[in-house]
Amino acid sequence: MNICLVGTGYVGLVTGAGLADLGMNVICVDKDKAKIDALARGVIPIYEPGLEELVSRNERKGRLRFTTDLKAGIESSAAIFIAVGTPPNPDGSPDLTFVRQVAEAVALHMNGYKVVVTKSTVPTGTGKMIDQILREKNGKYPFSVVSNPEFLREGSAVGDFLEPDRIVIGASDARAIEVMKEIYKPLFLRETPFVITDVASAELIKYASNGFLAVKISFINEVARLCELMEADVEAVATGMGLDPRIGPRFLLPQRHRRGGGARQTVRPPL
Ligand SMILES: NC(=O)c1ccc[n+]([C@@H]2O[C@H](COP(=O)([O-])OP(=O)(O)OC[C@H]3O[C@@H](n4cnc5c(N)ncnc54)[C@H](O)[C@@H]3O)[C@@H](O)[C@H]2O)c1
Repeated sequence: MNICLVGTGYVGLVTGAGLADLGMNVICVDKDKAKIDALARGVIPIYEPGLEELVSRNERKGRLRFTTDLKAGIESSAAIFIAVGTPPNPDGSPDLTFVRQVAEAVALHMNGYKVVVTKSTVPTGTGKMIDQILREKNGKYPFSVVSNPEFLREGSAVGDFLEPDRIVIGASDARAIEVMKEIYKPLFLRETPFVITDVASAELIKYASNGFLAVKISFINEVARLCELMEADVEAVATGMGLDPRIGPRFLLPQRHRRGGGARQTVRPPL
Protein backbone atom coordinates (compact mmCIF):
# COMPACT_ATOMS: atom_id res chain seq x y z
CA MET A 1 0.00 0.00 0.00
CA ASN A 2 1.24 3.51 -0.79
CA ILE A 3 1.26 5.88 2.17
CA CYS A 4 2.00 9.60 2.34
CA LEU A 5 3.45 10.96 5.58
CA VAL A 6 3.01 14.74 5.74
CA GLY A 7 5.47 16.42 8.12
CA THR A 8 8.88 14.76 8.34
CA GLY A 9 9.75 15.87 11.85
CA TYR A 10 10.28 13.69 14.88
CA VAL A 11 7.02 11.81 14.61
CA GLY A 12 6.71 11.88 10.83
CA LEU A 13 10.20 10.56 10.14
CA VAL A 14 10.02 7.77 12.70
CA THR A 15 6.48 6.85 11.60
CA GLY A 16 7.39 6.99 7.90
CA ALA A 17 10.48 4.82 8.31
CA GLY A 18 8.60 2.53 10.71
CA LEU A 19 5.67 2.03 8.31
CA ALA A 20 8.12 1.32 5.49
CA ASP A 21 9.70 -1.30 7.73
CA LEU A 22 6.25 -2.84 8.20
CA GLY A 23 6.16 -3.27 4.41
CA MET A 24 4.41 -0.11 3.19
CA ASN A 25 5.62 2.12 0.33
CA VAL A 26 6.05 5.45 2.05
CA ILE A 27 6.51 8.96 0.67
CA CYS A 28 7.57 11.41 3.37
CA VAL A 29 6.66 15.00 2.53
CA ASP A 30 7.83 18.17 4.22
CA LYS A 31 7.64 21.83 3.26
CA ASP A 32 11.15 22.34 4.64
CA LYS A 33 13.26 21.86 1.50
CA ALA A 34 16.57 21.85 3.37
CA LYS A 35 15.33 19.00 5.57
CA ILE A 36 14.12 16.95 2.59
CA ASP A 37 17.34 17.56 0.64
CA ALA A 38 19.37 16.44 3.65
CA LEU A 39 17.24 13.32 4.12
CA ALA A 40 17.57 12.47 0.44
CA ARG A 41 21.37 12.62 0.95
CA GLY A 42 21.06 10.28 3.93
CA VAL A 43 21.49 12.98 6.60
CA ILE A 44 19.11 12.36 9.51
CA PRO A 45 18.21 15.66 11.22
CA ILE A 46 17.61 14.15 14.69
CA TYR A 47 19.47 11.62 16.76
CA GLU A 48 17.40 8.59 17.69
CA PRO A 49 18.96 5.19 18.37
CA GLY A 50 18.32 2.93 15.38
CA LEU A 51 16.73 5.59 13.18
CA GLU A 52 19.57 6.05 10.70
CA GLU A 53 19.70 2.31 10.07
CA LEU A 54 15.89 2.09 9.79
CA VAL A 55 15.82 4.92 7.23
CA SER A 56 18.71 3.66 5.12
CA ARG A 57 17.48 0.04 5.14
CA ASN A 58 14.07 1.05 3.84
CA GLU A 59 15.46 3.54 1.32
CA ARG A 60 17.69 0.78 -0.05
CA LYS A 61 14.66 -1.47 -0.41
CA GLY A 62 12.90 1.32 -2.34
CA ARG A 63 10.08 1.61 0.20
CA LEU A 64 10.94 5.07 1.59
CA ARG A 65 11.25 8.32 -0.34
CA PHE A 66 11.45 12.01 0.59
CA THR A 67 9.92 14.93 -1.29
CA THR A 68 8.49 18.43 -0.95
CA ASP A 69 5.81 17.58 -3.54
CA LEU A 70 2.67 17.20 -1.46
CA LYS A 71 0.41 16.93 -4.51
CA ALA A 72 2.32 13.90 -5.83
CA GLY A 73 2.30 12.33 -2.35
CA ILE A 74 -1.46 12.71 -2.00
CA GLU A 75 -2.27 11.56 -5.51
CA SER A 76 -0.20 8.40 -5.30
CA SER A 77 -1.31 7.29 -1.80
CA ALA A 78 -4.26 5.41 -0.36
CA ALA A 79 -3.66 6.78 3.15
CA ILE A 80 -2.34 10.20 4.11
CA PHE A 81 -0.89 10.54 7.61
CA ILE A 82 -0.79 14.08 9.03
CA ALA A 83 2.25 14.43 11.33
CA VAL A 84 2.82 18.18 11.20
CA GLY A 85 3.57 20.29 14.27
CA THR A 86 0.82 21.59 16.54
CA PRO A 87 2.72 24.28 18.50
CA PRO A 88 1.04 25.93 21.48
CA ASN A 89 -0.74 29.29 21.06
CA PRO A 90 -0.03 31.96 23.71
CA ASP A 91 -3.11 30.74 25.66
CA GLY A 92 -1.81 27.14 25.67
CA SER A 93 -4.24 25.80 23.08
CA PRO A 94 -2.66 24.01 20.09
CA ASP A 95 -2.27 25.90 16.84
CA LEU A 96 -3.92 23.72 14.20
CA THR A 97 -2.93 25.90 11.22
CA PHE A 98 -0.60 23.26 9.74
CA VAL A 99 -3.18 20.48 10.20
CA ARG A 100 -5.78 22.63 8.46
CA GLN A 101 -3.36 23.41 5.61
CA VAL A 102 -2.72 19.71 4.99
CA ALA A 103 -6.45 18.89 5.08
CA GLU A 104 -7.03 21.64 2.50
CA ALA A 105 -4.23 20.26 0.31
CA VAL A 106 -5.74 16.76 0.52
CA ALA A 107 -9.14 18.16 -0.50
CA LEU A 108 -7.51 19.94 -3.43
CA HIS A 109 -5.44 17.03 -4.74
CA MET A 110 -7.43 13.90 -3.89
CA ASN A 111 -8.09 11.76 -6.93
CA GLY A 112 -10.02 8.83 -5.42
CA TYR A 113 -10.88 7.29 -2.03
CA LYS A 114 -8.40 8.45 0.65
CA VAL A 115 -7.97 7.62 4.31
CA VAL A 116 -6.82 10.76 6.12
CA VAL A 117 -5.10 9.88 9.39
CA THR A 118 -4.08 12.29 12.17
CA LYS A 119 -0.80 11.31 13.88
CA SER A 120 -0.25 14.80 15.25
CA THR A 121 -1.50 15.37 18.79
CA VAL A 122 -4.79 17.19 18.28
CA PRO A 123 -7.72 18.09 20.52
CA THR A 124 -11.00 16.23 20.33
CA GLY A 125 -13.06 17.59 17.48
CA THR A 126 -10.14 17.93 15.04
CA GLY A 127 -11.31 14.87 13.10
CA LYS A 128 -14.66 16.59 12.61
CA MET A 129 -12.87 19.73 11.45
CA ILE A 130 -10.87 17.73 8.86
CA ASP A 131 -14.04 15.95 7.76
CA GLN A 132 -15.73 19.30 7.21
CA ILE A 133 -12.80 20.70 5.20
CA LEU A 134 -12.75 17.62 2.95
CA ARG A 135 -16.52 17.72 2.51
CA GLU A 136 -16.66 21.43 1.75
CA LYS A 137 -13.59 21.66 -0.48
CA ASN A 138 -14.01 18.34 -2.27
CA GLY A 139 -17.45 16.84 -2.55
CA LYS A 140 -16.36 14.60 -5.42
CA TYR A 141 -14.37 11.72 -3.92
CA PRO A 142 -15.10 9.48 -0.91
CA PHE A 143 -12.82 9.64 2.12
CA SER A 144 -12.51 8.50 5.73
CA VAL A 145 -11.00 10.45 8.61
CA VAL A 146 -9.05 8.42 11.18
CA SER A 147 -7.35 9.32 14.46
CA ASN A 148 -4.21 7.26 15.13
CA PRO A 149 -2.35 9.08 17.93
CA GLU A 150 1.34 8.49 18.50
CA PHE A 151 2.78 7.64 21.92
CA LEU A 152 6.49 7.41 21.05
CA ARG A 153 9.04 9.04 23.36
CA GLU A 154 12.06 10.95 22.16
CA GLY A 155 15.14 8.84 22.94
CA SER A 156 13.40 5.52 22.34
CA ALA A 157 11.19 6.48 19.42
CA VAL A 158 12.12 3.63 17.04
CA GLY A 159 11.55 0.94 19.65
CA ASP A 160 8.34 2.64 20.80
CA PHE A 161 7.04 2.70 17.23
CA LEU A 162 7.97 -0.86 16.28
CA GLU A 163 7.02 -2.39 19.65
CA PRO A 164 4.25 -0.17 20.95
CA ASP A 165 2.23 -0.70 24.14
CA ARG A 166 -0.89 -0.25 22.05
CA ILE A 167 -2.17 0.98 18.71
CA VAL A 168 -5.17 3.30 18.95
CA ILE A 169 -7.37 3.60 15.89
CA GLY A 170 -10.37 5.91 15.86
CA ALA A 171 -12.51 5.64 12.76
CA SER A 172 -16.11 6.11 11.78
CA ASP A 173 -16.43 3.42 9.13
CA ALA A 174 -15.46 -0.20 8.53
CA ARG A 175 -13.57 0.50 5.30
CA ALA A 176 -11.09 2.80 7.09
CA ILE A 177 -10.63 0.28 9.92
CA GLU A 178 -9.72 -2.40 7.36
CA VAL A 179 -7.14 -0.10 5.75
CA MET A 180 -5.60 0.70 9.16
CA LYS A 181 -5.53 -2.99 10.14
CA GLU A 182 -3.76 -3.78 6.89
CA ILE A 183 -1.15 -1.06 7.53
CA TYR A 184 -0.43 -2.33 11.04
CA LYS A 185 -0.86 -6.04 10.23
CA PRO A 186 2.68 -7.10 11.31
CA LEU A 187 2.10 -5.52 14.75
CA PHE A 188 -1.36 -7.09 14.95
CA LEU A 189 0.20 -10.50 14.26
CA ARG A 190 2.72 -9.82 17.06
CA GLU A 191 -0.25 -9.48 19.43
CA THR A 192 0.11 -5.76 20.04
CA PRO A 193 -3.07 -4.59 21.80
CA PHE A 194 -5.33 -2.66 19.42
CA VAL A 195 -7.93 -0.18 20.67
CA ILE A 196 -10.40 0.38 17.87
CA THR A 197 -12.94 3.08 18.58
CA ASP A 198 -14.55 6.23 17.18
CA VAL A 199 -12.51 9.28 16.16
CA ALA A 200 -13.39 11.48 19.15
CA SER A 201 -12.53 8.73 21.67
CA ALA A 202 -9.15 8.10 20.01
CA GLU A 203 -8.35 11.81 20.11
CA LEU A 204 -9.32 11.89 23.77
CA ILE A 205 -7.21 8.80 24.60
CA LYS A 206 -4.10 10.76 23.58
CA TYR A 207 -5.03 13.95 25.44
CA ALA A 208 -6.17 12.07 28.54
CA SER A 209 -2.95 9.98 28.55
CA ASN A 210 -0.78 13.10 28.28
CA GLY A 211 -2.85 14.79 30.97
CA PHE A 212 -2.57 11.83 33.32
CA LEU A 213 1.21 11.62 32.93
CA ALA A 214 1.50 15.37 33.56
CA VAL A 215 -0.60 14.92 36.71
CA LYS A 216 1.82 12.23 37.90
CA ILE A 217 4.81 14.56 37.44
CA SER A 218 3.02 17.46 39.15
CA PHE A 219 1.88 15.20 41.97
CA ILE A 220 5.36 13.94 42.84
CA ASN A 221 6.65 17.53 42.72
CA GLU A 222 4.02 18.47 45.32
CA VAL A 223 5.04 15.45 47.40
CA ALA A 224 8.69 16.61 47.11
CA ARG A 225 7.72 20.00 48.57
CA LEU A 226 5.88 18.26 51.39
CA CYS A 227 8.93 16.06 52.00
CA GLU A 228 11.12 19.14 52.35
CA LEU A 229 8.78 20.58 54.97
CA MET A 230 8.54 17.27 56.83
CA GLU A 231 12.24 16.37 56.45
CA ALA A 232 11.21 13.20 54.60
CA ASP A 233 13.09 11.55 51.71
CA VAL A 234 11.08 11.96 48.52
CA GLU A 235 13.04 9.24 46.71
CA ALA A 236 12.05 6.73 49.37
CA VAL A 237 8.46 7.97 49.20
CA ALA A 238 8.41 7.67 45.38
CA THR A 239 9.95 4.18 45.54
CA GLY A 240 7.42 3.09 48.14
CA MET A 241 4.53 4.48 46.11
CA GLY A 242 5.80 3.18 42.77
CA LEU A 243 6.01 -0.43 43.93
CA ASP A 244 2.21 -0.45 44.06
CA PRO A 245 1.28 -1.77 40.59
CA ARG A 246 -1.79 0.49 40.60
CA ILE A 247 0.59 3.49 40.75
CA GLY A 248 3.80 2.28 39.03
CA PRO A 249 7.26 3.84 39.32
CA ARG A 250 7.44 5.77 36.05
CA PHE A 251 6.90 9.54 35.94
CA LEU A 252 7.41 9.63 39.69
CA LEU A 253 10.78 11.40 39.83
CA PRO A 254 10.59 14.88 41.37
CA GLN A 255 11.97 17.98 39.67
CA ARG A 256 15.05 18.61 41.81
CA HIS A 257 16.20 15.02 41.23
CA ARG A 258 15.71 15.41 37.48
CA ARG A 259 17.86 18.54 37.29
CA GLY A 260 20.70 16.72 39.02
CA GLY A 261 21.10 14.58 35.92
CA GLY A 262 20.27 11.31 37.64
CA ALA A 263 18.16 10.41 34.61
CA ARG A 264 16.46 7.26 35.78
CA GLN A 265 13.38 7.65 33.63
CA THR A 266 11.74 9.81 30.98
CA VAL A 267 10.39 12.79 32.82
CA ARG A 268 9.50 15.40 30.22
CA PRO A 269 5.74 15.78 29.88
CA PRO A 270 4.69 13.88 26.72
CA LEU A 271 3.73 15.60 23.45
N1 LIG B 1 8.03 14.64 19.41
C1 LIG B 1 7.37 13.79 20.16
O1 LIG B 1 7.92 13.15 21.08
C2 LIG B 1 5.90 13.53 19.91
C3 LIG B 1 5.31 12.36 20.41
C4 LIG B 1 3.96 12.11 20.13
C5 LIG B 1 3.23 13.05 19.40
N2 LIG B 1 3.82 14.20 18.97
C6 LIG B 1 3.00 15.13 18.18
O2 LIG B 1 3.27 14.91 16.79
C7 LIG B 1 3.17 16.15 16.06
C8 LIG B 1 4.47 16.42 15.33
O3 LIG B 1 5.48 16.58 16.31
P1 LIG B 1 7.02 16.56 15.92
O4 LIG B 1 7.76 16.56 17.20
O5 LIG B 1 7.29 15.52 14.91
O6 LIG B 1 7.14 18.02 15.22
P2 LIG B 1 8.34 18.60 14.38
O7 LIG B 1 8.31 20.08 14.57
O8 LIG B 1 9.61 17.84 14.65
O9 LIG B 1 7.94 18.28 12.86
C9 LIG B 1 6.85 18.84 12.21
C10 LIG B 1 7.20 18.91 10.72
O10 LIG B 1 6.03 19.28 9.99
C11 LIG B 1 6.45 20.07 8.88
N3 LIG B 1 5.30 20.79 8.34
C12 LIG B 1 4.54 21.74 8.94
N4 LIG B 1 3.55 22.12 8.11
C13 LIG B 1 3.68 21.40 6.98
C14 LIG B 1 2.94 21.35 5.75
N5 LIG B 1 1.87 22.13 5.56
N6 LIG B 1 3.35 20.48 4.81
C15 LIG B 1 4.43 19.69 5.00
N7 LIG B 1 5.16 19.70 6.14
C16 LIG B 1 4.79 20.55 7.12
C17 LIG B 1 7.54 20.94 9.47
O11 LIG B 1 8.38 21.50 8.48
C18 LIG B 1 8.27 19.95 10.38
O12 LIG B 1 9.36 19.32 9.71
C19 LIG B 1 2.78 17.21 17.10
O13 LIG B 1 1.37 17.31 17.13
C20 LIG B 1 3.29 16.62 18.40
O14 LIG B 1 2.58 17.11 19.53
C21 LIG B 1 5.15 14.45 19.17
